[in-house]
Amino acid sequence: MGYKEVYSAWQADPDKFWMDAAEKIDWDTKPSKALFDGNAPFYEWFSDGLVNTCWNAVDRHVEEGRGDQIAIMHESPITHSTKGITYKELQTRVASLAGALKMRGVEKGDRVIIYMPMIPEALEAMLACSRIGAIHSVVFGGFAAHELAVRIDDCTPKAIIAASCGLEPNRVVHYKPLLDEAIELAEHKPEFCVIFQREQEVAKLIEGRDFSWHGFQYGVKPAECVPVEGNHPAYILYTSGTTGQPKGVVRHTGGHLVALQWTMKNIYNIEAGDRFWAASDVGWVVGHSYICYGPLIAGATTVVFEGKPIGTPHPGVFWRVIQNNRIKSFFTAPTALRAIKREDPNGEWIKRYALHDLQALFLAGERADPDTVEWAQKHLGVPVVDHWWQTETGWAIAANPIGIEELPTKIGSPSVPMPGYDVQVLDEGGHPVEAGTLGAIAIKLPLPPGTLPTLWNAEDRFKKSYLEHFPGYYETGDAGYKDEDGYLYIMARTDDVINVAGHRLSTGGMEEVLAGHPDVAECAVIGVADELKGQAPMGFLCLNAGCNRPHAEIVKECVARVRDQIGPVAAFKLATVVDRLPKTRSGKILRGTMVKIADGQDWKMPATIDDPAILDEITEALKGLGYPRS
Ligand code: COA
Ligand code: AMP
Repeated sequence: MGYKEVYSAWQADPDKFWMDAAEKIDWDTKPSKALFDGNAPFYEWFSDGLVNTCWNAVDRHVEEGRGDQIAIMHESPITHSTKGITYKELQTRVASLAGALKMRGVEKGDRVIIYMPMIPEALEAMLACSRIGAIHSVVFGGFAAHELAVRIDDCTPKAIIAASCGLEPNRVVHYKPLLDEAIELAEHKPEFCVIFQREQEVAKLIEGRDFSWHGFQYGVKPAECVPVEGNHPAYILYTSGTTGQPKGVVRHTGGHLVALQWTMKNIYNIEAGDRFWAASDVGWVVGHSYICYGPLIAGATTVVFEGKPIGTPHPGVFWRVIQNNRIKSFFTAPTALRAIKREDPNGEWIKRYALHDLQALFLAGERADPDTVEWAQKHLGVPVVDHWWQTETGWAIAANPIGIEELPTKIGSPSVPMPGYDVQVLDEGGHPVEAGTLGAIAIKLPLPPGTLPTLWNAEDRFKKSYLEHFPGYYETGDAGYKDEDGYLYIMARTDDVINVAGHRLSTGGMEEVLAGHPDVAECAVIGVADELKGQAPMGFLCLNAGCNRPHAEIVKECVARVRDQIGPVAAFKLATVVDRLPKTRSGKILRGTMVKIADGQDWKMPATIDDPAILDEITEALKGLGYPRS
């Protein structure tokens, strides 16, 4: 069957389509049906089945004779080490950690925060939680203590599993002090912490609260897999919304398993025994779906990469890892390729490695710019598949499903909707627009298995954020259009979310932090075009009347404040002081116009502007920052 037939089969009978897909999962009790729509618009999948994620990702492969196959390959150019863990070893290690968590009272439904760098133990911690039905929430290491504290208070974990440190190319990230500070800041206190001590930095443990990873597991009885209901939350993953309070995306167990298993073969063309690598971080959704769960559920080998596309030690490191691990499908963010392309425009580093196992390159996380796609096509000589998705969906909304059929590529488009997604481009009134017309991209409800059923502790926010603007649809927050052939083009966000190096960040969240500076009366943060990272945040600060302090000093403090409170990942480095912000007569800041001026695009004077002269002041301030770039 080709793509069209597969998509039509889903349209004709969605329940049959997903029940067939569910056959590839080992259930303790098979679900009686796929969709549970009794509580619409809150939809669930496979709710009455019983299943365990860890069983499907680990144990079943050992039972099926894959015990000696490498499950996780750790490649760390930063520590100069390479280490493989077989499925059998993974089973033993995960069962032991799960047993220790259980012994300390962690039970089905309890939350566990995981704050770890790119080491196999991060995946082991995730799998140990799923083994006993605990709900994990992984927090990205580039977030600061305050962000971690917000997540602790929101999901109230019984335990936190962390590492002593993370390793960035030029510095050690001191996870343990950040963790201690976060627990101090948070109102909720976890009962205990488990710390994986890395040799690069051994952390001081707090007696009675902290246990070392190995000591914690000493002499415990390994835990068996606990079957959970299909609608039991597997994890919570926080993502940026329009405010500083992140959204806790919930993932249910049954749909997650079925959807990821389906994608591995049909989108990535990966089956048991194949080798797959997603160069992302476990703190992001790509890391959840395609470093940890997807490849392991499929019985493939996955790579945990602790390094960067460039500088660790050179721009050939991706190709070396692909060669050495005989990777068949590789997934990264366009920004990583842009970084490599800048240092290796002619692909000289690519030629040094034997990449004949590589069959496809997948890109997601941000818009894939044509230059980068063409560079990769030319130098790698394999299909370059742009695919579009979000933390909320957990897997691709649109892709070129090369495991089914390789469709013609259209550069600039992530191709076509995947089964399960009825994607529509709508006008402000919620009516589908014609091909070629720009609009808000929405997905007809219900969303498919594996996507978010709700937000943790925030049902109303879930409805308000996604379901109310276009009744009957899920609002993606992206704008774009479809062409005559049904190919999608994703052009921009419709909200205050920006995308910096493939990382999703909230300008509203940054404004909240800046507004907390004692000298700042008012501020605005916009995302300006950045050649390397796609977008970069830029802040405009209006100071309190009578503030006579040097502007440079205040700007420096503001930059430090965002790094301190949100984290280095915010990459907030550009800010300037202005007298006033451009606003509409009703007081709305004209961020869109500011972006256009900064990016050197054509712009029109907004009819609703209160005082046009302010835009001249903004233009001058931007010139001071070197924008627009020539
Ligand atoms: N823990 C702690 N700090 C982290 C971190 C982590 N896991 N990941 C990133 N950071 C820090 C970086 O060290 C950097 O700090 P600095 O300001 O001291 O230099 C800051 O956060 C910004 O990180 P990033 O935007 O990723 O830039 P970078 O300098 O680390 O990397 C590139 C630059 C060019 C390599 C970048 O484009 C890239 O490829 N990033 C990874 C993209 C990616 O995988 N995205 C995931 C989407 S699927
Ligand atoms: P995240 O939730 O961090 O995965 O970010 C999701 C957002 O990243 C989407 O809503 C898009 O705005 C953007 N995005 C992800 N993949 C693509 C893509 N292939 N093309 C364009 N934008 C993308």
